[in-house]
Amino acid sequence: MKEKIDLKAYTGKIAEALPKGILLNTNGDKFNTMVIGWGHIGFIWGRDTFVAFVRESRYTKAQIDKTGEFTVSIPEGKPDGGIIKICGMQSGRNMDKVKEAGLTLEEPSVIKTPGIKEFPITLECRVLYSGKIEISALPDDIQEKMYPRNVGSDNPLANRDAHTMYVGEIVDAYIIK
Ligand SMILES: Cc1cc2nc3c(=O)[nH]c(=O)nc-3n(C[C@H](O)[C@H](O)[C@H](O)COP(=O)(O)O)c2cc1C
Repeated sequence: MKEKIDLKAYTGKIAEALPKGILLNTNGDKFNTMVIGWGHIGFIWGRDTFVAFVRESRYTKAQIDKTGEFTVSIPEGKPDGGIIKICGMQSGRNMDKVKEAGLTLEEPSVIKTPGIKEFPITLECRVLYSGKIEISALPDDIQEKMYPRNVGSDNPLANRDAHTMYVGEIVDAYIIK
Protein backbone atom coordinates (compact mmCIF):
# COMPACT_ATOMS: atom_id res chain seq x y z
CA MET A 1 0.00 0.00 0.00
CA LYS A 2 1.18 3.54 -0.77
CA GLU A 3 0.49 6.56 1.42
CA LYS A 4 1.05 9.91 -0.34
CA ILE A 5 3.39 12.33 1.45
CA ASP A 6 3.69 16.09 1.51
CA LEU A 7 7.19 16.60 0.11
CA LYS A 8 7.84 19.77 2.08
CA ALA A 9 7.29 17.88 5.34
CA TYR A 10 9.91 15.29 4.30
CA THR A 11 12.66 17.50 2.83
CA GLY A 12 14.64 17.67 6.10
CA LYS A 13 14.34 13.94 6.70
CA ILE A 14 15.57 13.15 3.18
CA ALA A 15 18.51 15.58 3.45
CA GLU A 16 19.44 14.01 6.80
CA ALA A 17 19.26 10.44 5.41
CA LEU A 18 21.40 11.17 2.32
CA PRO A 19 24.94 11.10 3.79
CA LYS A 20 24.18 7.75 5.48
CA GLY A 21 23.11 6.25 2.15
CA ILE A 22 19.81 6.06 0.29
CA LEU A 23 18.99 4.06 -2.85
CA LEU A 24 18.72 5.11 -6.49
CA ASN A 25 16.71 2.56 -8.48
CA THR A 26 16.68 2.06 -12.24
CA ASN A 27 14.88 -0.28 -14.58
CA GLY A 28 16.58 -0.45 -17.99
CA ASP A 29 17.67 -3.92 -19.03
CA LYS A 30 16.56 -5.08 -15.56
CA PHE A 31 15.81 -3.63 -12.13
CA ASN A 32 18.93 -2.43 -10.30
CA THR A 33 19.69 -0.19 -7.34
CA MET A 34 22.78 1.57 -6.01
CA VAL A 35 23.59 3.56 -2.88
CA ILE A 36 23.94 7.33 -3.21
CA GLY A 37 25.23 9.73 -0.59
CA TRP A 38 25.05 12.88 -2.67
CA GLY A 39 21.91 14.58 -3.92
CA HIS A 40 19.66 17.62 -3.68
CA ILE A 41 15.96 17.86 -3.11
CA GLY A 42 14.58 21.19 -4.31
CA PHE A 43 12.56 23.26 -6.73
CA ILE A 44 13.48 24.51 -10.22
CA TRP A 45 11.59 25.37 -13.45
CA GLY A 46 8.36 25.28 -11.48
CA ARG A 47 8.84 21.61 -10.58
CA ASP A 48 9.73 19.67 -7.42
CA THR A 49 13.04 17.94 -8.17
CA PHE A 50 15.60 15.46 -6.89
CA VAL A 51 19.12 15.82 -8.30
CA ALA A 52 21.36 12.73 -8.29
CA PHE A 53 25.08 12.55 -9.13
CA VAL A 54 26.17 9.31 -10.84
CA ARG A 55 29.74 8.46 -11.86
CA GLU A 56 30.36 7.47 -15.47
CA SER A 57 31.38 3.92 -14.56
CA ARG A 58 28.17 2.91 -12.74
CA TYR A 59 25.81 0.40 -14.33
CA THR A 60 23.13 2.76 -13.00
CA LYS A 61 24.27 5.45 -15.46
CA ALA A 62 23.67 3.27 -18.52
CA GLN A 63 20.25 2.34 -17.11
CA ILE A 64 19.12 5.97 -16.51
CA ASP A 65 20.39 7.02 -19.92
CA LYS A 66 18.27 4.27 -21.45
CA THR A 67 14.98 5.05 -19.65
CA GLY A 68 15.17 8.72 -18.57
CA GLU A 69 13.75 7.90 -15.14
CA PHE A 70 14.67 6.69 -11.66
CA THR A 71 13.17 6.07 -8.24
CA VAL A 72 14.73 7.24 -4.98
CA SER A 73 14.19 5.05 -1.87
CA ILE A 74 14.86 6.45 1.61
CA PRO A 75 14.83 4.51 4.91
CA GLU A 76 12.58 5.67 7.77
CA GLY A 77 15.37 5.34 10.33
CA LYS A 78 18.92 4.03 10.23
CA PRO A 79 19.64 2.30 6.88
CA ASP A 80 20.17 -1.49 6.89
CA GLY A 81 23.96 -1.97 6.86
CA GLY A 82 23.76 -5.22 4.89
CA ILE A 83 21.73 -3.60 2.10
CA ILE A 84 24.08 -0.59 1.99
CA LYS A 85 27.13 -2.87 1.73
CA ILE A 86 25.77 -4.95 -1.13
CA CYS A 87 24.13 -2.11 -3.07
CA GLY A 88 26.99 0.35 -2.53
CA MET A 89 29.97 -1.96 -3.15
CA GLN A 90 28.88 -4.29 -5.94
CA SER A 91 27.76 -3.60 -9.48
CA GLY A 92 24.45 -4.81 -10.83
CA ARG A 93 26.22 -5.48 -14.11
CA ASN A 94 27.41 -8.79 -12.67
CA MET A 95 24.73 -9.78 -10.17
CA ASP A 96 21.13 -9.45 -9.04
CA LYS A 97 21.02 -7.04 -6.07
CA VAL A 98 17.33 -7.76 -5.38
CA LYS A 99 18.18 -11.38 -4.69
CA GLU A 100 21.54 -10.76 -3.03
CA ALA A 101 20.28 -8.03 -0.64
CA GLY A 102 16.83 -9.60 -0.09
CA LEU A 103 14.90 -6.58 -1.39
CA THR A 104 11.10 -6.49 -1.80
CA LEU A 105 9.99 -4.46 -4.81
CA GLU A 106 6.85 -2.31 -4.90
CA GLU A 107 5.09 -1.61 -8.23
CA PRO A 108 5.54 2.05 -9.24
CA SER A 109 2.50 4.28 -9.80
CA VAL A 110 3.55 6.77 -12.53
CA ILE A 111 6.88 5.61 -14.03
CA LYS A 112 8.17 2.08 -14.67
CA THR A 113 10.84 1.83 -11.96
CA PRO A 114 9.74 0.08 -8.73
CA GLY A 115 10.33 1.24 -5.17
CA ILE A 116 11.78 -0.88 -2.34
CA LYS A 117 9.74 -1.81 0.76
CA GLU A 118 12.80 -1.95 3.03
CA PHE A 119 13.54 1.74 2.17
CA PRO A 120 9.91 2.91 2.17
CA ILE A 121 9.97 6.68 1.50
CA THR A 122 9.75 6.78 -2.30
CA LEU A 123 10.20 9.48 -4.94
CA GLU A 124 9.37 8.59 -8.55
CA CYS A 125 11.41 10.86 -10.86
CA ARG A 126 11.55 11.65 -14.59
CA VAL A 127 14.81 13.17 -15.88
CA LEU A 128 14.36 16.79 -17.01
CA TYR A 129 18.05 17.53 -17.58
CA SER A 130 21.42 15.82 -17.35
CA GLY A 131 24.94 17.19 -17.60
CA LYS A 132 28.44 15.92 -16.95
CA ILE A 133 30.45 17.67 -14.22
CA GLU A 134 33.53 19.42 -15.63
CA ILE A 135 36.17 18.25 -13.12
CA SER A 136 38.75 20.86 -14.15
CA ALA A 137 36.26 23.65 -13.34
CA LEU A 138 36.00 22.55 -9.67
CA PRO A 139 38.10 24.05 -6.84
CA ASP A 140 41.48 22.24 -6.51
CA ASP A 141 40.72 20.74 -3.09
CA ILE A 142 37.52 19.11 -4.38
CA GLN A 143 39.33 17.81 -7.47
CA GLU A 144 42.00 16.23 -5.28
CA LYS A 145 39.63 14.78 -2.68
CA MET A 146 36.78 13.55 -4.86
CA TYR A 147 38.56 12.72 -8.15
CA PRO A 148 42.04 11.50 -7.08
CA ARG A 149 42.13 9.13 -10.07
CA ASN A 150 43.77 6.24 -8.23
CA VAL A 151 40.96 3.70 -8.56
CA GLY A 152 40.04 2.63 -12.09
CA SER A 153 36.59 2.64 -13.67
CA ASP A 154 36.12 -1.13 -13.46
CA ASN A 155 36.04 -0.96 -9.62
CA PRO A 156 32.83 0.00 -7.68
CA LEU A 157 35.01 2.43 -5.70
CA ALA A 158 36.18 4.12 -8.91
CA ASN A 159 37.12 7.75 -8.36
CA ARG A 160 38.69 8.57 -11.70
CA ASP A 161 35.58 9.42 -13.66
CA ALA A 162 33.25 12.40 -13.46
CA HIS A 163 29.70 12.43 -12.16
CA THR A 164 26.74 13.18 -14.36
CA MET A 165 24.10 15.30 -12.70
CA TYR A 166 20.53 14.13 -13.28
CA VAL A 167 17.75 16.60 -12.45
CA GLY A 168 14.68 14.44 -11.94
CA GLU A 169 11.17 15.88 -11.63
CA ILE A 170 9.42 14.23 -8.69
CA VAL A 171 6.22 12.95 -10.30
CA ASP A 172 4.99 11.01 -7.26
CA ALA A 173 6.02 10.78 -3.58
CA TYR A 174 4.75 8.25 -1.02
CA ILE A 175 5.60 5.85 1.80
CA ILE A 176 5.26 2.13 1.16
CA LYS A 177 3.26 0.67 4.08
C1 LIG B 1 27.54 5.54 1.37
C2 LIG B 1 27.75 5.46 -0.15
C3 LIG B 1 27.41 6.55 -0.93
C4 LIG B 1 27.60 6.50 -2.34
N1 LIG B 1 27.23 7.60 -3.10
C5 LIG B 1 27.36 7.55 -4.45
C6 LIG B 1 26.92 8.67 -5.26
O1 LIG B 1 26.32 9.65 -4.79
N2 LIG B 1 27.15 8.59 -6.61
C7 LIG B 1 27.77 7.50 -7.20
O2 LIG B 1 27.95 7.48 -8.43
N3 LIG B 1 28.17 6.42 -6.45
C8 LIG B 1 27.97 6.42 -5.11
N4 LIG B 1 28.33 5.33 -4.34
C9 LIG B 1 28.95 4.15 -5.00
C10 LIG B 1 27.95 3.22 -5.67
O3 LIG B 1 26.85 2.92 -4.81
C11 LIG B 1 28.65 1.88 -6.06
O4 LIG B 1 29.74 2.13 -6.91
C12 LIG B 1 27.72 0.84 -6.66
O5 LIG B 1 28.37 -0.41 -6.57
C13 LIG B 1 27.33 1.12 -8.11
O6 LIG B 1 26.41 0.14 -8.52
P1 LIG B 1 25.98 -0.12 -10.02
O7 LIG B 1 27.25 -0.42 -10.84
O8 LIG B 1 25.07 -1.33 -9.93
O9 LIG B 1 25.29 1.09 -10.53
C14 LIG B 1 28.14 5.33 -2.95
C15 LIG B 1 28.46 4.21 -2.14
C16 LIG B 1 28.27 4.27 -0.77
C17 LIG B 1 28.60 3.06 0.07
